[in-house]
Amino acid sequence: MATVQRSDEAQQAAARPADGALPGPAGAGRPPEVIQGGMGVAVSGWRLARAVAAAGQLGVVSGVALDAVLARRLQCGDPGGDARRALGQLPLPGAAERIIRRYFVPGGIGAGQPFRPTPRLGLRPNAAGTELAVAGNFVEVYLARQGHDGLVGVNYLEKVQLATPAAVYGAMLAGVDYVLMGAGIPVEIPALLNSLAAGEPGELTVTVADAPTGARHTVRIDPRALSGDAPAPLARPRFLAIVSSAVLAGYLARIPAATPDGFVLEGPGAGGHSAPPRGRLRLDAGHEPVYGPRDEIDLAKITVLGLPFWLAGGQAGPGLLARAKSAGAAGIQVGTAFALCRESGIDAGLRGRLVDQALAGTLVIRNEPDSSPTGFPFKVAQLSGTLADDEVYAARTRLCDLGYLRAPYQRGDGRIGYRCPAEPVETYLRKGGEIEDTIGRRCLCNGLTATIGLAQRRTGEPAEAPLVTLGQDLGFLPGLVAAAGSNYSAADVIAYLLQ
Ligand SMILES: Cc1cc2nc3c(=O)[nH]c(=O)nc-3n(C[C@H](O)[C@H](O)[C@H](O)COP(=O)(O)O)c2cc1C
Repeated sequence: MATVQRSDEAQQAAARPADGALPGPAGAGRPPEVIQGGMGVAVSGWRLARAVAAAGQLGVVSGVALDAVLARRLQCGDPGGDARRALGQLPLPGAAERIIRRYFVPGGIGAGQPFRPTPRLGLRPNAAGTELAVAGNFVEVYLARQGHDGLVGVNYLEKVQLATPAAVYGAMLAGVDYVLMGAGIPVEIPALLNSLAAGEPGELTVTVADAPTGARHTVRIDPRALSGDAPAPLARPRFLAIVSSAVLAGYLARIPAATPDGFVLEGPGAGGHSAPPRGRLRLDAGHEPVYGPRDEIDLAKITVLGLPFWLAGGQAGPGLLARAKSAGAAGIQVGTAFALCRESGIDAGLRGRLVDQALAGTLVIRNEPDSSPTGFPFKVAQLSGTLADDEVYAARTRLCDLGYLRAPYQRGDGRIGYRCPAEPVETYLRKGGEIEDTIGRRCLCNGLTATIGLAQRRTGEPAEAPLVTLGQDLGFLPGLVAAAGSNYSAADVIAYLLQ
């Protein structure tokens, strides 16, 4: 069994100044000009974030599903030993040994062998699940921070509320500089960061469908219970809220306890999820949401809030950074150009097909209103052999075994249940869900995990198929490939953006 020793390295690394003196190549006190957007699941893994941070900009790991990602990487034999090396720095007594004992398979599991299940999220998660979530986030941020003194952030989805406290704590133990959160209204995150930085329990309110008015449910984490001791204070990361309207930014900025340290303003063409159009949902002939002038973010209203902001969605072209800055932004956040670079977590074969088709002008990215169990529009690359392909979708047996997008609901007997619109339809209906919510829903958890080469395999079934999300603006690619080749790096993207 691997021996795991805690050194002071992680603790020292975690104790960075939290008072505005930003370390690293971005310059003291100066925010980064380019944020490499968080891209789940593990598309922006530690290799990508590390490359971006080493090049002087803000590299952001996705914090979604990192418990399963860590468990599966260990079951693949952890080639190179990076995960075990990082686990060796995890400051929770005995946790690394327990995780390695449970999941590490020397040489990796066989090609058709299923991955071992990981504990699912819940309002009262078990100790092993909490430990794995903390460890998964710690490992990703720890590895992203190696070999440079640049800035590293972590990205979460507000919708995945049940995962957040443990995940954030793991990232903070590894000394994360920024936390970014989108896909919801992250009112309680600043307070959560304050509590965890002080070594105190942190909690979040959880939305429970069908709960009586006034009932409050929470998910919490207690650093003392995990460390078995009085935990050392941690640096408090900065918090950027990812929003799509000046109204929401203004709302957050008006509540002192909810005020973030800045905003990422994301337009509807950005990769991943996006906010639905304001007002009644209208679909065009291609069944995509129609956005109009009301969806444009009013930068004048953002500017008066006095907080730094970054523009996201279709910002990956020469000159666009300068344009954003002249509009008052601190910089830009870019996703797709990094998702297609060689440090991206996307499986290399898939990435090659995406780049080739994008260059040939045949890659279509649809903004699908029904695919995501979250109910938010979700950009999907129309690539054969993936879950975007109707045949592949129809052939898949509906099931929910990862469960990150399960939402809690109150059952008739008063207990809390969990449901996901992408689970088997009859199960979802039995749990009180609506049939309309199940139509067209894709299992994002399994699809996105397959995209990074960690597809679940089940006896008698085809392996889970990938599902690829990208932004709708691919106009940056010909110029970038002309400058740096189709196997371009994260540093090439940054050079291109800074032109
Ligand atoms: C593959 C991929 C996955 C993404 N996943 C997330 C995510 O998990 N959370 C999030 O806030 N944004 C996510 N995004 C959005 C990016 O962080 C970024 O804001 C967006 O891609 C910027 O627009 P662009 O793609 O036009 O550059 C994702 C984008 C891509 C391309």
